[in-house]
Amino acid sequence: MTRTNHFFGKDIVSIKDFSKDDLEFIFETTDKIRKLKPDEKSEFGKGRTLGYIFYEPSTRTRMSFEAAMASLGGSSIGIFDSKFSSIEKGESLADTIRIMDLYSDIIVLRHPNDGSSRYAAELSNNPIINAGSGSEEHPTQAMLDLYTILKEKGRINNLTIGIVGDLKYGRTIYSLLYGLKNYQVDIYLISPPTLSVRSESIYEIRNKINIKQENYLDEVIKKLDVLYVTRIQKERFPDTQEYEKVKGTYKIDDKILENTKTDLSIMHPLPRLDEISHLVDNSPKAIYFKQAAYGKELRAALLTVILNECPF
Ligand code: NCD
Repeated sequence: MTRTNHFFGKDIVSIKDFSKDDLEFIFETTDKIRKLKPDEKSEFGKGRTLGYIFYEPSTRTRMSFEAAMASLGGSSIGIFDSKFSSIEKGESLADTIRIMDLYSDIIVLRHPNDGSSRYAAELSNNPIINAGSGSEEHPTQAMLDLYTILKEKGRINNLTIGIVGDLKYGRTIYSLLYGLKNYQVDIYLISPPTLSVRSESIYEIRNKINIKQENYLDEVIKKLDVLYVTRIQKERFPDTQEYEKVKGTYKIDDKILENTKTDLSIMHPLPRLDEISHLVDNSPKAIYFKQAAYGKELRAALLTVILNECPF
């Protein structure tokens, strides 16, 4: 079945703006992109420029978008440290977007405020991709997370997925939950009581997926097919003493993995601090670096279908 490209010229602000069909279209496009030789995909971005504006630090998101655009024959320009741009002089987000809109064909934005990407999308003529808006959403991370689950587990349906860590401030998990809403999954949300998923989001998803909330991982971990680990988002705590109380709550190490399913897959959007021991990296259960690799390919697929109506 050929699907319609609903991504052409579109903003990627929230994963909620896309249907299950749209997500599957992106996964299929990613499969196609991965099969192409370098010169076969170099037409998709030829002569086009990606402009990135990062008001917050980034390693994977920015570099994978840049690498993806290069693989499509396009180029990238941007601001990755606001101290070295006119943002430091006080220039507004609106003016920064307006200027980047003049110099590029597609804008990738990361900003500490919820709603920042929606706002930018209203101002910009060219498509905006939300690369993280406060603690609200990070839709392209969730798309690559879902793609990783699909490739590594062979399906998304009928899996038991645990999401652990900072579920209050971690934006990746919100986009992930909204994406998982399209599938039949059992979800365990594991966090300290003070870092549980915001109630409005629970309300939004509770009729669509089977959710259980827990504070401890030890018992739950045995039931899981996928464990999605997140970093405690220190920078988003209004009070550092509150951060001190919860840091280091969960630690994935060899010992806790002894009692897990043999085919458990451990994911993490990264960066990982001390929540996953480095000793786990060599376990076949650890798929977080594969996940980062899929990220470049999925983002190449996304750029392809935003920039080209009928690439294939
Ligand atoms: C995440 C983010 O920025 O929200 N990083 C990423 O894009 N992979 C996760 C995090 O910072 O903890």
